[in-house]
Amino acid sequence: MQPLPPGAPATLNDAFGYITNLKTPTVEDMMVMVLVEAASKNLYEALADGVPDEQAKALLRANGREELGHAHRVARAIGKITGTDYPVPSAAENPYLAAPLPKYEVNKAMLAGLAEVEFNGDNLYGAWADHCGNADAAALFRENGREEIGHGKRLEQASALLAA
Ligand SMILES: [Fe+2]
Ligand SMILES: [Fe+2]
Repeated sequence: MQPLPPGAPATLNDAFGYITNLKTPTVEDMMVMVLVEAASKNLYEALADGVPDEQAKALLRANGREELGHAHRVARAIGKITGTDYPVPSAAENPYLAAPLPKYEVNKAMLAGLAEVEFNGDNLYGAWADHCGNADAAALFRENGREEIGHGKRLEQASALLAA
């Protein structure tokens, strides 16, 4: 199991709450984001398993694949800042996946609400880019932010495919 970064929240849920409104991250906070983004791939797979519609499943899985990509970009951004990339753990090695994921009630409203969280992800990464003082890391954060908008749009599509 990869160790939690110093001072990191203990659970995935706490880590989401912590990171969502954090505009000026430390390097340790960026490490938390790597773990959260990597775990988000598994979260999206769990959501996909919970919807009956094949097209909605595909949209959710596409988001999940990109979340793992986000973990790798943040890991590289840490490398631009510190000189050493942070390792992206496999699911088995991710401390935020040590406990079983909660069983989600996936429905139209839930996916629409999650779309808003994803749109906010663009603002969050934009703030990280504005504050980080390293042009290469900032570019990686902005790339993630742009894709979070795409995630919000996919979630709106997936929501529209589900019965009310
Ligand atoms: Fe992401
Ligand atoms: Fe996302």
